[in-house]
Amino acid sequence: MVVESRMEKRTEPALSPLLLAMRGIVKTFGRSRAVDGIDLDVPERAFLTLLGPSGCGKTTVLRMIAGFERPDAGEIRLDNTPLADVPPERRPVNTVFQSYALFPHLTVHDNVAFSLKLRGGVSDIGVRVRRALDAVHMADFGDRYPHQLSGGQQQRVAVARSIIAEPRLLLLDEPLSALDRKMRGHLQIELKALQRRLGIAFVYVTHDQEEAFALSDIVVVMNKGRIAQKADPETIYSRPADSFVADFIGNSTLVEGRIQARHGDRATIETALGTITAPAAEGLAVGDAAMLVIRPELLSMRGEGSATFTGSVGHSVFQGERSMVGAEVGGLALRFPAEAPLSVGTSVALWLDADRSFITRIAA
Ligand SMILES: Nc1ncnc2c1ncn2[C@@H]1O[C@H](COP(=O)(O)OP(=O)(O)OP(=O)(O)O)[C@@H](O)[C@H]1O
Ligand SMILES: [Mg+2]
Repeated sequence: MVVESRMEKRTEPALSPLLLAMRGIVKTFGRSRAVDGIDLDVPERAFLTLLGPSGCGKTTVLRMIAGFERPDAGEIRLDNTPLADVPPERRPVNTVFQSYALFPHLTVHDNVAFSLKLRGGVSDIGVRVRRALDAVHMADFGDRYPHQLSGGQQQRVAVARSIIAEPRLLLLDEPLSALDRKMRGHLQIELKALQRRLGIAFVYVTHDQEEAFALSDIVVVMNKGRIAQKADPETIYSRPADSFVADFIGNSTLVEGRIQARHGDRATIETALGTITAPAAEGLAVGDAAMLVIRPELLSMRGEGSATFTGSVGHSVFQGERSMVGAEVGGLALRFPAEAPLSVGTSVALWLDADRSFITRIAA
């Protein structure tokens, strides 16, 4: 049996970097489709983030990978082996949840050791617990109880507990969302460093775009149980696949229009702001309705850019380093950063760096 499976492996194409493959995954609860036909590949050592609004199916995807939920259709393979008949405790996968769920009556050390003790037959538990606590900078806290720790420290222990069994894949479901902004920032940096050091793949769930961008090699934007876009953060930001992604990411203004001309990877779109030529999504053709995506930083009052508009300031919000201003232009509200607050009603001339904006398709 062992020999057979080894031989099977040899016939595989050499060293596929793919760890997890999901194909045609559907999950329905009652009459609602939580996950509606997803294909997803997680390469070895990748930091992949599922990003999307509440209810789009992120947790359900994780629970199916972990084995807590069974897909209605489709297949999940890990190392090219179907997982359907592998129970959760036998999958080389571990999960960190939003609520730390540490055992309150056990010390940090015993919380981390728990799964190894349960499994039995592990001789070097002490060494491994120390190594796991070291990895999350909690080596000095082994004797404490959970209630003697801050939220961030508790979440570090939860991470130590999840890596002690050396999983191939770590699933993290909004692990930092209960923490304050500063602690979240610290732990983001630590988690990313830990992932690199351990060399295992992370599938991370968040609805925080900045967090997704800071951490991920691959961002998967989900919308109503489907994948809207899967790409590196830079591509998601500058080339959103459709108006849903463009709207969800950042503070862009979306301006509807119709494609007038197509020139290679650029197109000319007719909008309420005028006729603008910009890079455009593949497949958009003359006559199609489309969306021009204007990110705030592409607008300036400094006379840099290709398209110009005039408008009047509707609001101006002081944000410290700069102010975020909303101006009305041709019946549209454009947001742009200004060095100082502007008073309402001021008339402004704005330049758009159209070469860095993007024309995308309208989401279904
Ligand atoms: N056990 C369940 N029974 C019924 N409906 C469920 C169940 N679990 C999830 N759902 C529904 O499936 C959809 C997806 O839920 P899921 O928890 O995967 O979303 P999510 O993207 O993780 O959202 P959030 O960001 O709020 O955590 C939601 O509409 C939810 O109400
Ligand atoms: Mg969730």
